[in-house]
Amino acid sequence: MLNIEEIISKLSLEEKVSFCTGADMWNTKPLEKYGVGSVTMSDGPHGLRFQKGGDTTTGINDSAPATCFAAAVTSGASWDENMMFEKGAAIGKEALSEGVSVVLGPGCNIKRNPRCGRNFEYFSEDPYISGRLAAAFIKGLQSTGALACIKHFAANNQEYKRMNGDSIVDERALYEIYLPAFEYAVKEASPACVMASYNKINGIHATDNKKLLSDILRDGWGFDGTVITDWGAMNDLKKGFIAGCDLNMPGGGTYMQKAVCDAVKKGELDEKHIDDSVRRILKLYEKSAASKGKFKTDYDTHHETALKTAESGAVLLKNNGILPLDLSETALIGYKHEKTRHQGAGSSHINPVKLINIRDAIPSVPYFACCDEHGNVTEHALKKAAELAAHSKTAVVAAGLPEIYEAESFDRADISLPDGMNRMVEAVAAANPNTVVVLLGGGVMELPWADKVAAILYMGLPGQAGGEAVKRLLSGEVNPSGKLTETWIYKNEDAVNNDTFGQKNVEYRESVFVGYRYYESADIPVRYPFGFGLSYTAFEYSDIKVDGRTVTAIIKNTGDCDGAETVQLYIGQKDPRFFRPVKELKGFAKVFLKRGEKKEVVFTLNDRSFSVWNNGWVIPRGTYRVMLGSSVRDIRLEAEIELEGEDPETPDELKGTFYETLKGKPKREEFELLTEIPDEKEPVKGEYTMDSTCLEMKDKSVIMKFQYALTKALTSKVTGIKKDENDPAYKMMVTSALDCPMRSVVIHAAGRIKESFIRGLLDMANGHVIKGIKKMIGKKRDTE
Ligand code: BGC
Repeated sequence: MLNIEEIISKLSLEEKVSFCTGADMWNTKPLEKYGVGSVTMSDGPHGLRFQKGGDTTTGINDSAPATCFAAAVTSGASWDENMMFEKGAAIGKEALSEGVSVVLGPGCNIKRNPRCGRNFEYFSEDPYISGRLAAAFIKGLQSTGALACIKHFAANNQEYKRMNGDSIVDERALYEIYLPAFEYAVKEASPACVMASYNKINGIHATDNKKLLSDILRDGWGFDGTVITDWGAMNDLKKGFIAGCDLNMPGGGTYMQKAVCDAVKKGELDEKHIDDSVRRILKLYEKSAASKGKFKTDYDTHHETALKTAESGAVLLKNNGILPLDLSETALIGYKHEKTRHQGAGSSHINPVKLINIRDAIPSVPYFACCDEHGNVTEHALKKAAELAAHSKTAVVAAGLPEIYEAESFDRADISLPDGMNRMVEAVAAANPNTVVVLLGGGVMELPWADKVAAILYMGLPGQAGGEAVKRLLSGEVNPSGKLTETWIYKNEDAVNNDTFGQKNVEYRESVFVGYRYYESADIPVRYPFGFGLSYTAFEYSDIKVDGRTVTAIIKNTGDCDGAETVQLYIGQKDPRFFRPVKELKGFAKVFLKRGEKKEVVFTLNDRSFSVWNNGWVIPRGTYRVMLGSSVRDIRLEAEIELEGEDPETPDELKGTFYETLKGKPKREEFELLTEIPDEKEPVKGEYTMDSTCLEMKDKSVIMKFQYALTKALTSKVTGIKKDENDPAYKMMVTSALDCPMRSVVIHAAGRIKESFIRGLLDMANGHVIKGIKKMIGKKRDTE
């Protein structure tokens, strides 16, 4: 045990402030004199991305081999907390056996719009299921002694301008939609760390945000762990200390530290804030030291877990009865079956210890790779695919989103598939009505051919065992039991926030009407509803009973094979006087039932199941529908609960607006009635700040144009990633480097570029050339 208070008392102010900035990309600073080593961290949520041998780069694609589990888009669709626990525990063991203590995950941001490039890393559009799955993952991971860092806190729901954009969200949506997944996970599973996100929330960066990090997270939810910045997210270190942001990652030289020390010396900043952060980092070190070197990874066992994550999250979207099928009689057509799309790109990218592609798992049937991985196809290839399909009893076609469509740091342009991919499916389906489509990709897709094919199995991003899972699911060795955790809409325009998504300062105008909360309340037709997923067997729901806050029902497997059903409990207030969604998920239970078997499911509701945020949680008095369903649109049983409570009302000025009528899309004037919209104008030349990015300044400044060209030219050299516009890792690196705020450039440069140099560049971009040059070549402001 460390004597933490004694260490704090012996450290100088400068040492303490320095201790709160990382040593390098993945480690905290040691304090050898006091027996304190480094805490080593690593991504990520779907498997370990560990940069071996002191590699201090992000090394996106070159990490140590590790088990690649199904990404959150898939494992989330399992609705299976036991499996999430197992996945978390396996990742925890792999981390510890590599000497890593803190795993940077899980990510539990809300899928606000289907186009977010990082949706595949998140669980759902619904906060309740996101929180429960995140908590299960954290419990599993931390059961090994490894430590979780839940991310990205908070309201970080798009990639465009991810490092300096502002999420403008009303108080109610913040509390009801964007915070509860974190809240549940923090209260239920006590993650060791929380990662403060890059974005601003209502004008204030998450890393400076006292309301978020202290008032809500620590004082409100009782979080007693360490808050870590996302990599390069620190905006203002002084404000960060006051807010309760403890650890500034990654390294970053001494940038910002001097200002903090000066502020303490001048009496502008209470040293207590710094002591608090030092204390919390030392406690993190203590926890991490306790389980160092505890495990050796058994990759075979973990491969089995990876297989489970893929199988239990696969969603059967359509089946006219053709599935399960005899795979020996099928033809396999698709794109690059040699390398099944199995994971997403960015910081969660894993270097899998092994990879079972669809073709590896189903090797002995006729096979034709019709498209390339981008969906390019020729007339000749389409003809050949159709011929092969016509001569086979059935045809299995693999299609989906190319890697370059979705990744960390950029969003999807729309939800469509490449034209060639659609043409391939259409050609095969026209040649053989017994066509089964296996869909791969991290999120919602427009499916113009859905009515023409016999079956669709959505695998998401299934990880290294994906091919094996496909084989076992299609053949019926495993019965599909996944259910969508995100609504599949027909087209982009159906999303309530299609017009506001992807702007720098993004107005969350839809408030609480996110995902199915909007589609259900506004009665919008959707392709596949939230919670939807078929099975090879059938389930009967009966005997709903309500006793106080406990709801029970009987579920029976009435079909021909064993299977699992996820029973979902939705709440909806009858004739509410305070606007709210007609259905909200407040419980779920996944039950495994043998053929003919029945079981009771039990749900316990609490105050929060019925509450709305109205300057605090309140239960509106009234009658509540309690709905048990197989999806949000397939409610099988219903009962009522009568509740006493308060009488909040929709304020007069909101009457007749979108929030009450749900007609059309919410307008800015309507949103302004819900929340203040910060007056954030795009800075022009002369006003650029350390928050501005090279991309934002390059058209107005010769020096930034030069910087832009230089960055583009050097990205490949610096990162070691080959220049290829179709490689998401390359695109991510270029986007991140060019759209990185100047303050973050200094942090990432970790002492190699001085603050004074960047400030000089900024002066020049603002039109003060001589002043800028003087600063760039003048006295160093950084002490490193
Ligand atoms: C990502 C985080 C990740 C970190 C370290 C950031 O750019 O947003 O999710 O954990 O990098 O790789």
